[in-house]
Amino acid sequence: MTLRIGHYALAGRALLAPMAGVTDRPFRQLCRRFGAALAPAEMLSADQRLWNTGKSQRRMDHDGEPEPRVVQLVGSEPQELADAARVNVDLGAHIIDINMGCPAKKVCHRHCGSALLADEALVERILDAVLRAVSVPVTLKIRTGTNSAQRNAPRIAALAQACGIAAIAIHGRTRADFFRGSAEYDTMRHARALIDMPLIANGDIDDAERARAVLAFTGAEGVMIGRAAQGAPWIFRDVNAYLATNQFATPLLRASKTEIILQHLASLYQFYGEHTGVRVARKHLGWYCRQLSEASELRPRLMAAEDSASQFLAAQRGFGQWAQLQAA
Ligand SMILES: Cc1cc2nc3c(=O)[nH]c(=O)nc-3n(C[C@H](O)[C@H](O)[C@H](O)COP(=O)(O)O)c2cc1C
Repeated sequence: MTLRIGHYALAGRALLAPMAGVTDRPFRQLCRRFGAALAPAEMLSADQRLWNTGKSQRRMDHDGEPEPRVVQLVGSEPQELADAARVNVDLGAHIIDINMGCPAKKVCHRHCGSALLADEALVERILDAVLRAVSVPVTLKIRTGTNSAQRNAPRIAALAQACGIAAIAIHGRTRADFFRGSAEYDTMRHARALIDMPLIANGDIDDAERARAVLAFTGAEGVMIGRAAQGAPWIFRDVNAYLATNQFATPLLRASKTEIILQHLASLYQFYGEHTGVRVARKHLGWYCRQLSEASELRPRLMAAEDSASQFLAAQRGFGQWAQLQAA
């Protein structure tokens, strides 16, 4: 089965989930290299007055990324979102994704993100405005609803399809759940019964078998993987292989993973510069350390490094030794 979003036939069924503070350009490129069928950028405010900061400028940097490039917008004013979508398409976005899934207070107190799910009329006005503003495919990412008493994702999905949205991703938690508890997939299954546009299932999908089970249960065309890709960008290779062939991919050797980690570090230093690059790299190194049973000694050394040269060297030595243990 091919996952299609608008006129794009995607090469796999596993997508990277947008994650603010994680899915920067270096990480997106890495995940795409390992087969992520799409890699949306970190959410960008629709308020263009906020775009002049270094942070927003980096979020808008898609240099060298393969088509289709997905820009995710967060906002609550239909016209503001429509204008932001148009500008981003002019800047090279191939797909516009609208965030109605973020539960963060910083976002929700302005009635954005998942707070919008409580106002279906406003959802419709937003989707209409954005779809009228751009000719590229527009997708929507939502949660299952506001809270357990109000799981209206199936209604929102049907409404989105009627507006002309090209695909919908549903995270199996409500806004009130935040990240607590486990994701549920029943609501996605209910949505599936109401729509025939592509449905992307999201939430707690952390390996190939789970991806297949969620696809089978929900009837979704694709899965979106967030936290399980942190420290494991190669997960897309494993999930895509299993979904396509029913066979597990040969696991990557530790030496190959070490090489990938070092390349990731180098791309972070280049993208963020020395000071911020080292700090952003710490976060990823912490996640990569979860791969190592011997991480207790390496982790503090990686975290203590204050400059890129010593951080890189510590990673090279530490992960290199880990790889050698496998080779021995
Ligand atoms: C650190 C972090 C940042 C996130 N930022 C965004 C975001 O910018 N836009 C968005 O739609 N969802 C965001 N999410 C939600 C994820 O896209 C995804 O829906 C959620 O993590 C559930 O998927 P998972 O269980 O595979 O991680 C974020 C999640 C995390 C953990």
